[in-house]
Parts: sequence; structure tokens; C-alpha cells
Amino acid sequence: MNKKTILQIAIDGPAGAGKSSVARAVAQRLGILYLDTGAMYRALTWQALQKNVDFADTDALTHLAWETSVTFDMDTHRVLCDNTDVTEAIRTPRVSEHVSAVAAVPGVRARLTELQRNVASEHPIVLDGRDIGSSVLPQAPVKIFLTADLHQRAQRRQKDLNEQGLTTTLNQVAQDIAVRDEKDSSRATAPLTQAADAVLIDTSDLTLSEVVEEVLALVRRVAP
Ligand code: DC
Repeated sequence: MNKKTILQIAIDGPAGAGKSSVARAVAQRLGILYLDTGAMYRALTWQALQKNVDFADTDALTHLAWETSVTFDMDTHRVLCDNTDVTEAIRTPRVSEHVSAVAAVPGVRARLTELQRNVASEHPIVLDGRDIGSSVLPQAPVKIFLTADLHQRAQRRQKDLNEQGLTTTLNQVAQDIAVRDEKDSSRATAPLTQAADAVLIDTSDLTLSEVVEEVLALVRRVAP
């Protein structure tokens, strides 16, 4: 990486692989920004629900993407949608259920990809998502694809839901994330996929700090 290149770390993978915990910890250790791109798709989905937009109406969803402001407070990690704090609201099962439909709309992806590239061109940053290494930032010097077996991912997601006071069975959570992964992997535009030059890390039997150390070692190799 030459001196003028801004450090970009792309972390992709299926739901529940631990991307956001790892991305946030890596960004904190390096003192750089962290952008949760899934939160952007979730915020638009929340807005579509608020405005009763038909999830089959791709033009209306595209229009919504261009007229809605989705911003982050980079210090507190709060997510704002047209200035409403939606940090907790975007994590509900209702948003999770519809987010893949919103994320499959090419016009929505064009808008959010543009916003993501703008931030990443100005600041050293860690981004997590589904298509960062393969589509948003194909030139990113560090690309990681995080995965874990479905049972582990479901357990982690169930813990997150429990912390929000939502109870659900492990089987239901596993089924929901498998359905979402299938939709995210099979869409025509920028599907969930491992970039050819991404490093695969299976987090099933690793602790958070072990994964973070592995990512930091990769970063040191590229940007000593
Ligand atoms: O990471 P997450 O589960 O919060 O992401 C929510 C959804 O957003 C996910 O099911 C697919 C979509 N997404 C996407 O299509 N591209 C990204 N870069 C990030 C998320």
C-alpha cells in the first residue's frame, strides 16, 4: 500500500458471523472509523415500514433511498434516519424480515454504495457488509470473509435478541438467518459472496479477540 492510499478494511460474510463485533473492535484498536453498512440497509427498511412503502415496488424503494438521510454518530455509534435515532428499532425481527427485499433493489444499492464509497475515500475505515470486498471497494487492501457454522451464528443472534428482550427458539433464529442468507446470496446485484482475494476466517471455534488479532495481523502485513 503506498502512503497516499487510505487504509480500507472490508469485512464481509453471512448473518451472525460476528462481523460487526470484529469490525468495531478492529477499528477501535487502529483508531479508525467503522461503518456498519447493514445498518444502512436496515435504516431504509425501517423507513419503508414507517411510510408503508410496498416492498415489491422497486421504484418507490429507490426513491426512498435517495430522499432519506442515513447517518452515523461515529463516536456513539448511534444510527440516525432523517434525524430520528433508529439504533434499536432497526434490529427488530420485522426489519430483519424485510431487509433482504430492500437490499436486492439495484437503485437502493447504487445509492448506498455511493455513500459508502464517499466515506471510504476520505477516511481510513473498516466497513462490514456483504459486498464490500467484491463490489463496493474491490481495491481494498485488506479483505476478510468471516463465516461460522449456522448453529453458532444462530446462537449469537439469539443472544442479541434476548438482550433486546425478545424471546425466540434457536430453530426459528437459525431458519430466519438461513432464509436471509439465501436471499442475500442469490440476488442479481452485488450478492453476498467471498471476493477471490479475501481471506476466509471461520469464527466457529474462535473467541472475538482471537479473530481481532488475526485481522490485525493481516492489516500489519499490508500496512506495516
Ligand atoms: O449485517 P446485517 O445483518 O445488519 O445486514 C442486514 C441486511 O442488509 C442483510 O441481510 C443484507 C443487507 N446488506 C447488503 O445487502 N449489503 C451490505 N453491504 C450490508 C448488508
